[in-house]
Amino acid sequence: MDHISQDAAETRSPFLPGPTAPGGRPLRTDVPRPLGRGTALLPPRPSGRTVGGHTARQLLDLCALVGLDASDSAAYARALNDALGPVVHRPLDLPPAVRTFLSDDHTPVEFSLSLSAGTAPSLRILLEPASGFGTLGESGRLALRAVHELARRWDIATDQLDLIQDLFLPDDPQGSFALWIALELSPGGVPRMKAYLNPSASGPDRAGATVREALRRLGHHRAYDSLPPADRLVFLALDLGDWDTPRLKLYTAHHELRASTVSTLNRMAGGPSPAETEAFLHTASGLPDGRDGVFDRRPVLTCHAFTDPAADHPSGFTLHVPVRDYARDDREVLGRAETLLTRYGIDPAVLRDSLGALTPRRLEDGVGLIAYLAMVHQEGRAARLTAYLSSEAYQVRPPGGRPSGPRPVR
Ligand code: TRP
Repeated sequence: MDHISQDAAETRSPFLPGPTAPGGRPLRTDVPRPLGRGTALLPPRPSGRTVGGHTARQLLDLCALVGLDASDSAAYARALNDALGPVVHRPLDLPPAVRTFLSDDHTPVEFSLSLSAGTAPSLRILLEPASGFGTLGESGRLALRAVHELARRWDIATDQLDLIQDLFLPDDPQGSFALWIALELSPGGVPRMKAYLNPSASGPDRAGATVREALRRLGHHRAYDSLPPADRLVFLALDLGDWDTPRLKLYTAHHELRASTVSTLNRMAGGPSPAETEAFLHTASGLPDGRDGVFDRRPVLTCHAFTDPAADHPSGFTLHVPVRDYARDDREVLGRAETLLTRYGIDPAVLRDSLGALTPRRLEDGVGLIAYLAMVHQEGRAARLTAYLSSEAYQVRPPGGRPSGPRPVR
């Protein structure tokens, strides 16, 4: 699959001319290979695997599973490589170019499946364009170029993003990322695109003000005050392109959440019932029915989607459960996902097969292949479940030794 990355750099990459960042600074991707213990005499034999080659191969296999045809799949794999930028050529024998928090092992790509009863599964990719390219400011600027280049390629309008990007991409952004892109890989070769921005780009203490200003510019004057209490604003995301009703989404983190209070986080009218929300959380996290527990490791996230600027409440609610922090291994997580999918009338086969397409390892030999399980409700649409799938290009997290679910409370 490495020909794709070659192709990307030689013909389409928005990152040309290449090996140095603007201003002649060497890429962060150029760090020399550190010598590990016991390698002084014989350096490890290069595996020949690269970030671009590995993730493109996974993408093509997943595309085949969800029924995308060969030409759409190849175009999407090229787009992935183009958008990633110089990091595609980086050998996986080197450590990650940057410790991106996009995934636990710092692969700058994550896959996800969106599943609902009676419709074809939809495959998405989340990626960090220009991952590890220069400073966070430089990589953010190049990421924005990558968004525009993809938008031109598919004739996708970016005006909503253009209105607010300066708030999230200051010269010297703070925090753990600058700009991520997600592509929903529709049949026909034109994906739908989403941009993820960091509310803390001008400092965590300014996150609220930054998001308020963005909402003001976008005309969503009442959105902010309709959010539930939360510990942190994690992402502001925008749907770009050909969506029926493009959403503006705000993701919030809820530390130390008590399972019994989860339904109070929904602000959507006509959304899931408290019983449905609680049942999803219990099954996803392995918390037995009738018991309460505290999510004391990675926080549960919720996402609040806004479509009508005049509305005083969101039109969508998503509950994201970081299952990998509340399970012993991926076999356990898959079992929970299968229970949930079946409950929603969805055939779990595509999820099971996707895990096999990502890695040959046994599910009990690691945890994190499924990073999140989410329940998605959007006004006027059937409920969906999504599973976020790790590339594990660099590392597999060993199975957990300790009790797996949320901390019990009595
Ligand atoms: N890896 C980060 C996290 O676990 C960010 C992230 C990646 C994320 N994919 C996600 C957050 C899906 C929520 C849902 O938080």
